[in-house]
Amino acid sequence: MSPSSQLADLLSGPVVVLTGAGVSAESGVPTFRGSGGLWRSYRATDLATPTAFARDPRLVWKFYSWRRELVAACRPNPAHKTLAQMERRLPDFTLITQNVDGLHQAAGSQRVVELHGSLWRVRCTRCSYQAEDRRVPLPQLPPRCPRCEGLLRPDVVWFGEALPQGVLEQAWAAAGRASVMLVVGTSAVVEPAASLPRLAKARGAYLIEINPEETPLSPYADEVIREPAGQALPAWWQQINLSSSQSVL
Ligand code: OAD
Repeated sequence: MSPSSQLADLLSGPVVVLTGAGVSAESGVPTFRGSGGLWRSYRATDLATPTAFARDPRLVWKFYSWRRELVAACRPNPAHKTLAQMERRLPDFTLITQNVDGLHQAAGSQRVVELHGSLWRVRCTRCSYQAEDRRVPLPQLPPRCPRCEGLLRPDVVWFGEALPQGVLEQAWAAAGRASVMLVVGTSAVVEPAASLPRLAKARGAYLIEINPEETPLSPYADEVIREPAGQALPAWWQQINLSSSQSVL
């Protein structure tokens, strides 16, 4: 049996994918830490913390409003589309993303575990109001709650905040039972997301990293593909399909 047909057999078990900003890089969405990365030009402490929001909600909203406009002009790339195909074809598939851009859903992924929330949702800082809001630009900054007039905030996770409990539990459970885990386009330095592939590996998963650059996860990976995701992921998936005539794919 060839290595890729062995992998195709493993793909009939639980498959988990963890994505980061790199998966959207070829769509034109800036990453955070690489060259041109957001945290190279902006200080996260000024823009992406609860303290920053309490100090200057309008400034924080201007940053998120700019990111919403930027992402609204971006389209899913072949990596997002391949992941949507994998969801349709594989019997047990979980897509976990650290991205807030919504491009996985735009590519057709139906079930996305959004670890860090979404740019396209708002929630009230005073009452329990939470809603999707896709207006670009927003008519008023900072936006106000239609229910109680409280300040709305982006429904994203900021530095120093806990991840939504249910979402995190779903991610841990999926990583803990994965037979294959693919890690695509993340620097693997932000916790707890960075621990998910380590957990999967410790429980026996076959770990694949797709990233043009080395990361702290690279030494633990069973396979490393050092190419941009938009090229590497469709090519990898095609290769699996070619070698899996008798498998479940
Ligand atoms: P980073 O900006 O830290 O890392 C992006 C990774 O993508 C790097 O390892 C790049 O080498 C890789 N990369 C760049 N172009 C790529 C391409 N075309 N294909 C594949 N990989 C590519 O982004 P994340 O790891 O997602 O959190 O960052 C994690 C979290 O830190 C984000 O969710 C965000 C940020 O602060 C919050 O905002 C809470």
